Amino acid sequence: MVSSLHVSPTYLAVLVSLLATVLAAPRPMSSFPLSMNLQRRVPQARSADDIAAWAKMHKQNVEAKYGNPSLMKKRSSGQNLIVNQAADSSFFGSVAVGTPPVAYNVILDTGSADLWLASSSCTDSACQGIPPFNPSSSSTFSASSTPFNITYGSGEAAGTLGTDVVRMAGFAVSNQIFAVCDEVSEDLLNSPVSGLMGLAFQTIASSGAMPFWETLVASGAWTEPLMAFQLTRYNNDSSAEDLEPGGTLTMGAVNTSLYTGDIDYNDIPDNETSFWLQTISAITSQGSSISIPSGSSALAAIDTGTTLIGGPSSAIAKIYANIPGSQAGTGNLEGYYTYPCSTNVKVSMSFGGNSWPISNADFQSEQLNEETCVGAFFEVSTGADAPAWIVGDTFLKNVYSVFRYNPPSVGFAQLSASDIAMNGINAAVPSATVASAVAVTVSATASVASSTGAAIAVASAASATASQKPNNAATLSFVSCSLSVLLPFPVIASMMLYLLV
Ligand SMILES: *[C@@H]1O[C@H](CO)[C@@H](O)[C@H](O)[C@H]1NC(C)=O
Ligand SMILES: *[C@@H]1O[C@H](CO)[C@@H](O)[C@H](O)[C@H]1NC(C)=O
Ligand SMILES: *[C@@H]1O[C@H](CO)[C@@H](O)[C@H](O)[C@H]1NC(C)=O
Ligand SMILES: *[C@@H]1O[C@H](CO)[C@@H](O)[C@H](O)[C@H]1NC(C)=O
Repeated sequence: MVSSLHVSPTYLAVLVSLLATVLAAPRPMSSFPLSMNLQRRVPQARSADDIAAWAKMHKQNVEAKYGNPSLMKKRSSGQNLIVNQAADSSFFGSVAVGTPPVAYNVILDTGSADLWLASSSCTDSACQGIPPFNPSSSSTFSASSTPFNITYGSGEAAGTLGTDVVRMAGFAVSNQIFAVCDEVSEDLLNSPVSGLMGLAFQTIASSGAMPFWETLVASGAWTEPLMAFQLTRYNNDSSAEDLEPGGTLTMGAVNTSLYTGDIDYNDIPDNETSFWLQTISAITSQGSSISIPSGSSALAAIDTGTTLIGGPSSAIAKIYANIPGSQAGTGNLEGYYTYPCSTNVKVSMSFGGNSWPISNADFQSEQLNEETCVGAFFEVSTGADAPAWIVGDTFLKNVYSVFRYNPPSVGFAQLSASDIAMNGINAAVPSATVASAVAVTVSATASVASSTGAAIAVASAASATASQKPNNAATLSFVSCSLSVLLPFPVIASMMLYLLV
């Protein structure tokens, strides 16, 4: 409850929106008696602005409830609890699909824009042991014959498009287009994950379909036009289990209890909404600034679906040049660097504003032996239309990150003490559940069309991922996990993925 006089406007907005939802959504009366203790609350002093804001919302809520058509659309926000898989290798949340709704775990990927689920007709070994989507068990599923395929840095999925009700974080899209995949490559999914939810813009969707989040925000369903992530860290916790609490995804609001200070927003360059692009303005390594290529070579995709941080080889070399004893990896470690584990590495990144430090724990991505560690920055060479950098979870675990639709921008803020306290805790893992209430339901305007926006999802370089799978994985047994790169592929012309096991 609000116990302080210093009520932040955001918090108030969230409260008011919850109130609005309750007021505007008639619910069936419970058939059994409920009792509740009522207590008189001490009235709290509110500022004139707060009162005015409340009064305005109250009027709108009443009008919405009683049928002013321009105000019928509700706005809301909601939260999805994330699971951290394999010591920070990937982060997944849950969606509910179909009628009756069934919950599925999906990788939350700001680096791509398609939603897909493994199908019950998938016989690939990657589909064994994961809960598949069975189209015939949903009365609202509508199939199409439109084929779908997508190739990410770490693998491929293919199937056909269909339409069904999809819910997440208290929102529903009644006719969301997604792919039901009967071909899924090895290592793309790990049980209990059934698919992937792309959270980038429609322009890069292989299906051409508007992503779930974009339908919601574009139709005004969100209190604020943004979504925000807090991701936990378990990679330096030797007792971490395969699944651990992963943090939160909030849709439609920021959660003011998860960050402190201001959110440092930087625009997506030229409003080019494809990936969540940012321009890297500075990188420091061990306290010294390194020179990095500018212009399009400084563009980065901010990508929750990628485990580490990839960049141009010249810039990566400079980061390690400041770390005594570091060496370019060879063989299966080509593209990576090793360095003495005893070094406390300090790397920070800026995107036009604040400089954000990456913890030593995140930089130290793997330990090869007692002395030698592998750093989290690796070399990547991307295609012409793709950002040169992929800034993944190594960075995102250190900040509260906000993906804002309008104006298109990405914001970072300092994690609150309560977030930091969630790192490494021994707590229950959230499970995929079907939420009982949906605050806002929206329908998308598009139907399943032929693939239009498929600019980058062509399978031209599809063999690269398969051939880069290590054939002597046994020697890499130190790698406890699969590292993911979930950017759609031909974007990535060549990439070092030897650590994939
Ligand atoms: C993938 O889909 C594209 C069209 O979106 C098509 O041209 C291509 O042949 C498909 N590739 C595979 C391997 O099915
Ligand atoms: C993991 O790293 C964080 C950030 O550097 C640190 O605060 C924490 O104490 C470390 N945890 C363990 C178990 O070493
Ligand atoms: C904000 O995050 C906290 C901690 O995870 C959670 O308890 C709270 O419910 C969240 N608030 C909203 C409005 O989602
Ligand atoms: C980006 O779009 C916003 C409106 O959303 C506009 O105010 C701004 O000028 C645009 N910036 C550029 C660089 O086009």
